[in-house]
Amino acid sequence: MYNVRKIKENLYWVGANDRNLANFERIIPIPRGVSYNSYILLDEKNVLFDTMDASAGDLFFENIAHVLNGKPLDYLVVHHVEPDHASNIHRVMEAYPEAVLVCTAKASQMIKQFFGNGFESRMMAVKEGDTLLLGKHNLTFVLAPMVHWPEVMVSYETTEKILFSADAFGTFGALYGPMFADEMNFDRDWLDDARRYYTNIVGKYGTQVQMLLNKAAGLEISLLCPLHGPMWRENLGYFIDKYQKWSTYTPESEGVLIVYASMYGHTENMAEIFASKINEAGVKELAVYNLSHTDCSYMIADAFKYSRILLVAPTYNNGLNPLMENFLHELAARFIQKRTFAIAENGTWMPASGKIMRSIVEEMKNCTVLEPTFTIKSALHPEQLSDMDTFINQFIHN
Ligand SMILES: Cc1cc2nc3c(=O)[nH]c(=O)nc-3n(C[C@H](O)[C@H](O)[C@H](O)COP(=O)(O)O)c2cc1C
Ligand SMILES: [Fe+2]
Ligand SMILES: [Fe+2]
Repeated sequence: MYNVRKIKENLYWVGANDRNLANFERIIPIPRGVSYNSYILLDEKNVLFDTMDASAGDLFFENIAHVLNGKPLDYLVVHHVEPDHASNIHRVMEAYPEAVLVCTAKASQMIKQFFGNGFESRMMAVKEGDTLLLGKHNLTFVLAPMVHWPEVMVSYETTEKILFSADAFGTFGALYGPMFADEMNFDRDWLDDARRYYTNIVGKYGTQVQMLLNKAAGLEISLLCPLHGPMWRENLGYFIDKYQKWSTYTPESEGVLIVYASMYGHTENMAEIFASKINEAGVKELAVYNLSHTDCSYMIADAFKYSRILLVAPTYNNGLNPLMENFLHELAARFIQKRTFAIAENGTWMPASGKIMRSIVEEMKNCTVLEPTFTIKSALHPEQLSDMDTFINQFIHN
């Protein structure tokens, strides 16, 4: 049965929650699920903003039919062609033969790639600043290329000052009743997943997000409607400030992130002792992750949060532990900048992991990589503790 939510007069959420998908994009774990937000705005012309992931099935069509209640669907606005929002484009166009599909020229090309040329004659390509009059409401289209696909645009409704922001300002986490961020403790319950969503999905495109934020800065926004997670009608500055930080690679905290790998626990023991000593040296905000246990999306998120990152890994077949190697490549792929790295290695016959970690992080922009590498052979011993203190002192005061 339909499950729709009234967001405000004439604006309805017709989306769906997904608590079945284990990994978003079949890569990133989403233990709290995800929502796919789709909206209908009713006016003289009725508009559907984006479609839905295939998993929503018939529910999406029941939702649309319930809100339209026999009225025609005049426009389908497609902000983004990634299949989590675009899987049902062809079905909507078939079910509503009078509907015109509004999207960027790039999006129309992608839609043809996914669905063929079947409804080419019903596509309307829009450019930056184009408008669409709906009656009392009026849409202006704003292009947001590479946030995080090339065809992306957002729509601004000028009468009620609503920004339909596509994936920007989205988050992992299914909706659980409340629809607005101001009805939730966002900072406590959602921010970590919002950061994990941003950094893993969009994190590489900080420059392009900055361009979108600069355009949005010129708009008065009373309601923000993203494609995932809660809607925003209060305190938007809080979330925009997070986006400012993330997209400029500015740390939120002067704390320390420790990421380690260990096959048999000796490198892990060194990482644990590092955490204790760094805390004893006065650092209160710390996060420690074991790469063998936690998905690296959590560490990528915390690498964007903290200013200092300590990498701790053993040598493996004369190379670097592969989990650490993968993590560092994932981090480098997000163009992380402005961090201080420290490196600690282990090796039983010829430690080599430190050199490899260093070579990867040294390529990162505006980062400091501390010298020297802290090295243990097989296990940490008490006579190394004073060297460790010196190393930590340099790290946390850099
Ligand atoms: C499969 C495997 C390959 C390893 N390759 C190397 C190596 O090439 N050079 C080296 O110095 N140590 C090597 N080691 C030893 C580790 O770097 C490390 O000293 C040892 O595993 C103890 O640390 P851990 O308890 O954290 O795993 C290897 C260990 C394993 C299990
Ligand atoms: Fe997307
Ligand atoms: Fe999305």
